[in-house]
Amino acid sequence: MSAESKQAAFTEFTNSNLEVLYDHEQIQNRIQELGNQITREYAGKELVLVSVLKGSCIFLADLMRSIDLELTIDFMAVSSYKDGTKSTGDVEILKDLSNSIRGKHVIVVEDIVDTGLTLSRLLEILDSRGAASIRLASFLDKPEPRIKTGLKIDYTGFVVPNKFVVGYGLDAAGRYRNLPFIAIVKNPADLEV
Ligand code: IMP
Ligand code: MG
Repeated sequence: MSAESKQAAFTEFTNSNLEVLYDHEQIQNRIQELGNQITREYAGKELVLVSVLKGSCIFLADLMRSIDLELTIDFMAVSSYKDGTKSTGDVEILKDLSNSIRGKHVIVVEDIVDTGLTLSRLLEILDSRGAASIRLASFLDKPEPRIKTGLKIDYTGFVVPNKFVVGYGLDAAGRYRNLPFIAIVKNPADLEV
């Protein structure tokens, strides 16, 4: 195959190393349900959605548009996974919130809770800052590798199997965040495919 026809035949969204788990429509429907629930539960409260970068950016964008309330957003960045697919257990704050959460009702918006190490540490940090309440919304819940078993996810998009998943904000070494669906990486060792 020539370089040009190879390029034309390849699209990221039909990559052969991906197996679709939830498609775009299923995701939109589920997020709307979560948004409706949050809208009912936070009426009249000062709500801040705290997005954990980078993985939760697409979930945040859809979730906030499904919540019919006055709200604000803020961002944090923590590192836990370095460049591969293995948890290091370390949590480092790379970017902190821009505004105080004192007296506010906070929902932490995450892409996935896996071992729960990142989130437990982050919740401990936020807990010390005087918020009126802190709850957790995670787009995906991967319960099998959970180490922090006491961690409660208040709003869960989907429960996924103990496989490496990508898309809809979740990456593998920086790649695949732009997929409009959630997919299992069939062969995580073969990310070049
Ligand atoms: P945890 O500390 O093990 O709960 O996971 C922390 C972070 O690891 C998540 O917020 C994700 O950014 C990343 N992560 C965990 N599992 C996956 C996965 O299956 N695909 C992509 N990223 C993941
Ligand atoms: Mg994350």
